[in-house]
Amino acid sequence: MRDLVSLEAVSESVSLDANANTIAARLQALFEHSPVAIVALDHEHRFVMCNPAFIALFQFTQEEMLATDIDQLIAAPDTTNEARNLSLTVLRGEKVHTVAQRRRKDGMIVDVEIYGIPLIVDGILNGVYGVYQDITERNHAKTAYKQLSQMLNDAQHEERRRVARDLHDSTSQELAVLNWNLTMLSKMVGDRDATLQGMVAQTKEIALQCSSRIRSASYLLHPPLLGNEGLQPIVSRLATEFELRSGIHVTLDIQDSLGRFADVIEITVFRVLQEALANVMRHSGSPVVHLSLWEQSGWLTLIVSDEGRKVAMANLKNDRTGVGVSGMRERLEQLGGHLRMEQTNDGTTVISALPIDRETNA
Ligand SMILES: Nc1ncnc2c1ncn2[C@@H]1O[C@H](COP(=O)(O)OP(=O)(O)OP(=O)(O)O)[C@@H](O)[C@H]1O
Ligand SMILES: [Mg+2]
Repeated sequence: MRDLVSLEAVSESVSLDANANTIAARLQALFEHSPVAIVALDHEHRFVMCNPAFIALFQFTQEEMLATDIDQLIAAPDTTNEARNLSLTVLRGEKVHTVAQRRRKDGMIVDVEIYGIPLIVDGILNGVYGVYQDITERNHAKTAYKQLSQMLNDAQHEERRRVARDLHDSTSQELAVLNWNLTMLSKMVGDRDATLQGMVAQTKEIALQCSSRIRSASYLLHPPLLGNEGLQPIVSRLATEFELRSGIHVTLDIQDSLGRFADVIEITVFRVLQEALANVMRHSGSPVVHLSLWEQSGWLTLIVSDEGRKVAMANLKNDRTGVGVSGMRERLEQLGGHLRMEQTNDGTTVISALPIDRETNA
């Protein structure tokens, strides 16, 4: 009986060993073939081993890593302290996730996403793992994308200014002359012909409406300078001007303590507001529009709601008829934000939200 038990124990231990071997082999394969660079250090931050991806990324040999502290080797010139603090945090048993710059053996600086993972076995810190993902290319692509978007925005901005100027300087002036001529014509007709007088008056009314629309369009196309003032006064002014020109009553609810944001954020909010107001004027038939703007929990939110007519939701969803809604959405999404449009029988609501990173946007 005793022999039988010990035999069972032996076979169980053999199968446990086999299991452990299989797991070890699998982990070894993952380590060897991982496209992500991994380095293992002991509890005193001494090099133990690294995978081929780590050598491919930083180009140091195992001998060099054994001879020198890893932070000294791969920290970029002005990141030695940051790298050291990161190591100390992991050596205290905390996980770390950050994005930083490190240096390759040839001196080239790489952008890396770093995970620092403490290796704790049975409650004891045996060492640490550093996992490095090279994100240099990704960052370059992001920067190029941002630059392109910026160029596109600038070009659009410039084009709008030009169109606004042209509308103001030529079409508006021509309409003024037309109005003047119609006034003269009306005087010349006098009381002689009531039908003709009626037609002249009607034509004059149309010309007046045209000039008022052109003034509105030109104002909306030509943004005031955001640079010095910030959103709060500019939005208030835009609202007042819009009310004057469109005859649509505006109610305003702007957070009192709304601070300043990065230019790109302020311009985006302003542009989205312009388009939303232009849509209210063109499509809603609403007598009133409600604006609110506030910042909370890292988000800047703008809501524009009207009490106008309902359109087919497909128009709003697919942006089939214009570039306005899709333009607003793209602008917001480029900055990590989003746009939502809602319609009820009471009108249309446009909700735009942008994430605010106070450290970079203040
Ligand atoms: N406030 C609103 N009230 C009613 N319908 C609206 C409103 N805003 C947008 N829409 C509908 O959504 C459609 C898409 O709007 P969008 O701004 O994309 O295009 P547009 O205003 O027709 O043209 P543009 O390209 O000049 O902006 C509009 O044509 C209209 O049918
Ligand atoms: Mg539009």
